[in-house]
Amino acid sequence: MEKTLIVLKPDAVSRGLCGEILARFEKRGFQIVEMKLLTVSRELAEEHYSEHKEKPFFAGLVEFITSSPSLAMVLEGQNAITLSRAMIGATNPLDANPATIRGTFTSDKQFNLVHGSDSPEAAEREIALWFSK
Ligand code: RTP
Ligand code: MG
Repeated sequence: MEKTLIVLKPDAVSRGLCGEILARFEKRGFQIVEMKLLTVSRELAEEHYSEHKEKPFFAGLVEFITSSPSLAMVLEGQNAITLSRAMIGATNPLDANPATIRGTFTSDKQFNLVHGSDSPEAAEREIALWFSK
């Protein structure tokens, strides 16, 4: 069993897509083990996306992720990290398979609805960061 951090970003919450997105993960067989609605602080956003701090899109990314509430959760299941990333789809909309969450509900590279941990190390770090307190 694996645990992964999934965040339904502000666009997913404001567009009313949380139910549909969450249903996909539940139907795939993942269990919800933690969940909270929160407006992400600048501090959390910068720490979470610290790997991107030199990128040109970093300021806009922090602005977006802190702009309104997100729904954060820890999901558990067999191969949950790899499988949830596959379900989320590619970052570049031109590469996102239409069967994926991004491929179904967005065509925007920034406003892309969902975050998922991309490795066991990232999952461990991110779960501790988002759900320690
Ligand atoms: P995430 O970390 O949110 O799960 O997304 P990801 O792995 O698919 O993509 P990543 O490369 O880690 O980028 C993090 C988030 O930054 C925004 N982004 N904007 N304007 C741009 O060129 C650009 N590139 C990335 C997206 O919101 C992306 O999910
Ligand atoms: Mg990423």
